[in-house]
Order: sequence, then C-alpha cells, then structure tokens
Amino acid sequence: MRKKTVVTRLLPTEVIEKLQAVSEVTMWPTAENAASREFLLREIKDADALLSMLTDSIDAELIAQGKKLRIIANMAVGYDNIDLQAAKSQGIYVTNTPDVLNETTADLAFALLLTTARRIPEAIDFLRSGEWRLWSPFLLAGQDVYGATLGIVGMGRIGEAVAKRARGFAMHVLYHNRQRKPEVEERLGVTYATFDDLLRQADFVMVLTPLTESTYHMIGERELHLMKKTAILINVSRGSVVDEHALYQALRMGEIHAAGLDVFEQEPIPPDHPLLQLQNVVALPHIGSASRDTRMHMAMLAADNICAVLAGGDPITSIV
Ligand code: DGY
Repeated sequence: MRKKTVVTRLLPTEVIEKLQAVSEVTMWPTAENAASREFLLREIKDADALLSMLTDSIDAELIAQGKKLRIIANMAVGYDNIDLQAAKSQGIYVTNTPDVLNETTADLAFALLLTTARRIPEAIDFLRSGEWRLWSPFLLAGQDVYGATLGIVGMGRIGEAVAKRARGFAMHVLYHNRQRKPEVEERLGVTYATFDDLLRQADFVMVLTPLTESTYHMIGERELHLMKKTAILINVSRGSVVDEHALYQALRMGEIHAAGLDVFEQEPIPPDHPLLQLQNVVALPHIGSASRDTRMHMAMLAADNICAVLAGGDPITSIV
C-alpha cells in the first residue's frame, strides 16, 4: 500500500513533489493559518510521516493516534513543540533541520543587535513622522557595537556563526554553555565565562540556547538584575528562555537598557502586549531563519528525512 505523508502547512511544489515520489501527500492548504487540531488528529491516524512546523503542538495525545507513524520531521532546528518521550516510546524518529539555517539566523541575530544598539526603528519612525527638524549632537544617540563585549548564552552552531561576525566588529566574545568548548575557544578566540560572570560583564547578552526544561526562564529577575544597566538583551532562540514579565519590569525600571526580541512566550505576540509598548524594545515576528533560500533548504531537508525513512533507511538529522 502507498505510504502517506501529512504536511501541516502549504509548502512549495518542489518539496511536495519530492514527498510524492515516496508517498501520497495530504497537505494543510494554507500558509496563513496553522493546521487545525481536528485535521491533525484525523490525518495522523493512517500517516507514515508527518512534516510539522515549530508552531504545531505534536504532543503525546496526537502521537498516540499515529499508529503507523515512523517519522516526525520538524521544519525547524528547535523541537520544543514535540513530545520526544512519546515519540521515542512509540519508536518514531524525530528530525530537525540543523546547520542549513546557521548563517541566516546569525545574520538576523546580528542585525537585531545592531538595530537595537543604534535605535534604528526609532530613527526611521522619527524621520517618517516629520519630527526631524535639525541635526543635533546627541539626537538618537545609541550604543557602540564596535569593541563591546558580547555574551553568547548557548554556544552551538548558530553561536559560532554569530561569534565570527562579532570578530569583524572587534568585539570581545564571552560564551556560556553546558559544556565548555576549548576547540571553539581556540578557533574563534572566544572566552568561556560562568553564567553570572557573562551576565555581569557583557554589553550585549545574546540568547541562543534551545528551550528545554532546564533553560525555561533561564533569564529571569535575578539574571536581569546581574546585567549592566547599559546592557542590551537579544533573544533569537525561544521566547520562554526569558521570563517576559521580569524582562518588562527590568526594561521599564532601567535595570537593563534595551532588548531586541525575535521570539516570544506567546506567538504571535498580541500587539497590545506591554513589551511592545516600550520604546527600548525592538521586536520582530520570529524571522531568524527567514531567507527564501534557507527556508527552502529547511523544507527540503525535512522532506529528505522523510524520504530516507520511508525508503527504509535512517534519517539524516535525527534527534530520536
Ligand atoms: C528554528 O528553526 O527553530 C527557528 O526558530 C526558525 O527560525
């Protein structure tokens, strides 16, 4: 019998054609809305493969319905939306899309750092609203990136790509990671610091760690208090690594200077969310890996993982 792949969002024809070579494909028909729970629960029942998005909750209840399911291929490097334990106990592979997005995500992370430090959105609004009447010595004066200390929390492959960019800005790069990485220190000239030392010393704290039980709210009231009053927090990993309530208070009370956020505890973040009302917050709609080429590479890698498993082989980028 022909195999079946369920795809939870409208994806380009090339990706679907690849999947159609090994299975029939049932795809959620739009890119604007997430696949409904009803669709997922119904379609997973006789599916061999699931190509999911980071916004889909692939929980134990859903996985239990996938009696024939052999692989969940997430189109993201992060996989906190999937119950790994449930998948593992049913012998289902889970794959992600690492590496293909490293450089693109590092570009965005660095862009967000520069944008926040130099108050670019404020400057654009100022000009467009006709407020610019005179060049002034300290008009929209921001913070120097050149020569500043960058603290990277979570030195994985994206962290390395950010560190390379930081070198071009003569930044002093500290990192904190579960495991110390002497080879990376040597190769990229970065320095290991304890978490607290990094928070105390960095002018820019960049969060790049995956969301797990141990990184949930890893940046909270205590950590924000340790940071310099002039420090800028950049988060391009997952919203829940930062306690947003504590962040709001810290930004409002001047405990830290500003934040550049690409990710939020609730996505999409409601436009009337208190964080979005602050002048010292630069917010983006989770576009870290959003270049056309990279998103295509991610979709193709997810499809390649499915093809490999449905052909009876091992996945290429397996988590479990
Ligand atoms: C990922 O792949 O996990 C990213 O957050 C997408 O930009």
